[in-house]
Amino acid sequence: MRVGFIGTGNMACALAAAIAGADSSVGICGFDVGPEQLARFTSQIPGAVPASDNVEVVNSSDLTVLAVKPQGVRPVLEEIADTEALIVSILAGIRIAVLEAHLTRARIVRVMPNTPALVGEMAAAYAGGSRADADDLELVGTLLSHAGLAIRLPEELLDAVTGVSGSGPAFVARLIDAFTSAAVAAGIPDAEAVRLVLATFSGTARLLAEKQLTPQELISMVSSPGGTTVAGRAVLESSNLERVIRQTVWTTTARSRELGDEGARK
Ligand SMILES: NC(=O)c1ccc[n+]([C@@H]2O[C@H](COP(=O)([O-])OP(=O)(O)OC[C@H]3O[C@@H](n4cnc5c(N)ncnc54)[C@H](OP(=O)(O)O)[C@@H]3O)[C@@H](O)[C@H]2O)c1
Repeated sequence: MRVGFIGTGNMACALAAAIAGADSSVGICGFDVGPEQLARFTSQIPGAVPASDNVEVVNSSDLTVLAVKPQGVRPVLEEIADTEALIVSILAGIRIAVLEAHLTRARIVRVMPNTPALVGEMAAAYAGGSRADADDLELVGTLLSHAGLAIRLPEELLDAVTGVSGSGPAFVARLIDAFTSAAVAAGIPDAEAVRLVLATFSGTARLLAEKQLTPQELISMVSSPGGTTVAGRAVLESSNLERVIRQTVWTTTARSRELGDEGARK
């Protein structure tokens, strides 16, 4: 099995490293218009080989990940227009219908990944095009799972996935920043504040997942009557936190839909 990458930038490096690290029998190849990016890719990924162009990537791979920026994809689609291969697009905002209109014989799977893929903690969703079969989807799901969570969903939901997990790392980072500022304002030194807040976010997420607790169950566990958490929650729950988060996700989802519409018109 060989997995190819068209564009060997940040996301390609993250996915290729996860796949190569999890399954040494998978060969990796890639091409990039930037010689530096290609050299970094082949030096960082065990066993990865450079291809001489994008057509060679597609022709020599069982599955090719399209990992250029959305605005740079047109020349690539023209270059590989004749392919019948399995093409996995991670391009934000480019719909399957657009890819299928250019790659009229390829089997397309569209993925919405997120940046924690860089540390093997991705949260991704993926959807199959009209020519991708069950084996294609199973293969893509298995390969993505090496980089973290990969859930299959209908393509219509990928805009909402962008609002939750695609853009989500920026929203969570903003919350982490607010907690850290509050910790520093309360007198905790900067470096210790960062460490405490990061460990609290990752520890809480892990506790919920591993003990299969609902957020409400965990909140009850931490809230003794008349105690500190109950006092803090009174402030948080009297705010419009729920509404702000919902609007953040809705607005991001709507923007993703708009970008998809623009991509379809071009
Ligand atoms: N990073 C994220 O958080 C994230 C999340 C979800 C989805 N995505 C999607 O992932 C894709 C890749 O993102 P990234 O952050 O990895 O981008 P990146 O680091 O800029 O990597 C893209 C690479 O493709 C190269 N390239 C451009 N045109 C090419 C061509 N015709 N043939 C071969 N290579 C070409 C670029 O070279 P030059 O720089 O020299 O042009 C660059 O090295 C994007 O479509 C993005 O929408 C990213």
